[in-house]
Amino acid sequence: MNTNVWTGAGRRLFLQEVGTRDGLQAEAAFVDTARKVELVDALSETGLAKIEVTAFVSPRAIPALRDADEVLRAIRRAPGVIYSALVPNVRGAERAVDAQVDELNLVMSASESHNLSNLRMTRAQSYAALSEVARAVSGTPAVVNVSLSCSFGCPMEGDVPVAGVLDWCRRYVEELGAHGVTLCDTTGMAYPTQVAELVHAFRERWPGTELTLHFHNTRGMGLANVLAAIASGADRFDASLGGIGGCPYAPGATGNVCTEEIAHALALMGYDTGVDLSRLLAASAKLPGLIGHDVPSQILKAGRRLDLHPLPRDFAEIAARAAAREG
Ligand code: COA
Ligand code: ZN
Repeated sequence: MNTNVWTGAGRRLFLQEVGTRDGLQAEAAFVDTARKVELVDALSETGLAKIEVTAFVSPRAIPALRDADEVLRAIRRAPGVIYSALVPNVRGAERAVDAQVDELNLVMSASESHNLSNLRMTRAQSYAALSEVARAVSGTPAVVNVSLSCSFGCPMEGDVPVAGVLDWCRRYVEELGAHGVTLCDTTGMAYPTQVAELVHAFRERWPGTELTLHFHNTRGMGLANVLAAIASGADRFDASLGGIGGCPYAPGATGNVCTEEIAHALALMGYDTGVDLSRLLAASAKLPGLIGHDVPSQILKAGRRLDLHPLPRDFAEIAARAAAREG
């Protein structure tokens, strides 16, 4: 494994869009079903590996995603893109499978307090419920990914012991047979050395399991955490268009790492993300109109590194004056 993080050397990384789920779930305004579908269709053409389209949760809990069934049925599926959805229980799994989801993203928190706040169950109850979901979908073409929220810290409990996080991973991978695990930094508490330790431990134990890192940029460490994870063997990252997002049940939560910022930085470093940045930026530029406010994306404001600006209008004059001073 090439652990020199500073030279991508064409190494393939996989970017997974979560803006349509993690992003839109936190928005006060309801984005029309047709416009959600348009957004997913645009994202499907950008080269992203996976799109978490929506969440099959209680419409009372997350009204912004109450049209999950219609959205997943209406999108145009691009070959090679995995269409995933968040699912909290068997009811959600049945809805998702009916709407032909490729992957169910089951969610539980590594922290007891956050699990109770978010899912109204203890972690043990969640594990039992998610095992039931896994059994319910085992005969279908859909695969199961398990997202462990608060894997890098809980906003109510503080540090979450690594041994505990790894033990939940073990149970999901070895007992439940999950296809993939996502380690989620739900409220931006992760820092690079901690990320390196957990990713390394996971990779060493379960080299054949798909591992995703899900960072929020709450404290400005998003990109640093992505690089630390790459250096420790990770190759899959969740990110949200425009950097929108945040868990409504986590105090102080803010947006995910921004898809276009991560794609931009990784491309400059020589990584192959498969992403067409121009298309991604075009999709992101429409976001403020959809959700009714500005988005955190820096690239959307500043442009790409080599999106050059015209010279000042009086540039010739400035140069002539400078030359005259020489003579
Ligand atoms: N799809 C649609 N409706 C669902 C549902 C699902 N997957 N799961 C539960 N419901 C409905 C029930 O029918 C019930 O509706 P009613 O009040 O009209 O009868 C209501 O939701 C409550 O159901 P209950 O089984 O008592 O669950 P709960 O109140 O303990 O809620 C969750 C548990 C997890 C289903 C709910 O809190 C939820 O969906 N939370 C969203 C979590 C989330 O997405 N967080 C952010 C991402 S990390
Ligand atoms: Zn998140």
